[in-house]
Amino acid sequence: MTEPAAAPARPPIRISPSLLAADFSRLGEEVLDVQRSGADWIHVDVMDGHFVPNLTIGPAVIKSIRGLATVPLDVHLMIERPWDVVDAYIDAGADILTAHVEAFVPTAWRRRAPRGWTLEGYQYLDDESRRRVRDFIAAVITRDKKVGLALNPTTPASLVLEFLGEIDMIVAMTVWPGFGAQKFIDEVSAKIHELRLMSGERVSVEVDGGINMDTVGKSVAAGANVLVAGTAVFGDPEPRAAIKGLRDRAAATPRP
Ligand code: DX5
Ligand code: ZN
Repeated sequence: MTEPAAAPARPPIRISPSLLAADFSRLGEEVLDVQRSGADWIHVDVMDGHFVPNLTIGPAVIKSIRGLATVPLDVHLMIERPWDVVDAYIDAGADILTAHVEAFVPTAWRRRAPRGWTLEGYQYLDDESRRRVRDFIAAVITRDKKVGLALNPTTPASLVLEFLGEIDMIVAMTVWPGFGAQKFIDEVSAKIHELRLMSGERVSVEVDGGINMDTVGKSVAAGANVLVAGTAVFGDPEPRAAIKGLRDRAAATPRP
């Protein structure tokens, strides 16, 4: 009798604390602390004041963090023209580099949702935008790093379908990007599930924004395997307990 074929391995659960919620006056200590507390990755939010209405850090700070970190740096670019800065961020130490699909589309084509850009209503990218996405992916892969694409809350999952064979991670924004400590947008759950079904088991699905003990279960149940958590980890006086709590809740949640 032949054994039934083993089910394909699910991508592992990863907890990626977001430095946006750290105390920037003691950034190095915060990195070491969260790493000692069991973080799998460290999520670094890069904002340019144009793509999102906030400004954070760039390659120089990432380079300093890289010197301390022993876990992968999960760098989330919320910037215009991400294809122009791939080498700068990889030279600085990014291990996973994610850019927003909305940033590849000319401003005139984007729609301004009340709290950020959206491609809601679009079924396809135009050829020029598609070419830029492919250039970005190729530039990261050439450097032997992992590549991700992020979607704002109302941007459709179908726009990344054609890139799924080439990328390592899809990021479903569960808040409008720009600020920490916002409330998880429940309507994104259906898209998380859609992304998981589209991606199969090879591609990671990361959720970013408002992840805490109340929202981690529904995110994992929908299909997420990488959990970004800023406030829930850095805002907790015991980051080790906070990370363990999220990990245990994720492990106890049936995955699709
Ligand atoms: C939002 C950032 C998130 C944010 C998450 O623009 O991309 O990474 O820091 O923070 P919390 O977990 O506080 O929502
Ligand atoms: Zn982020």
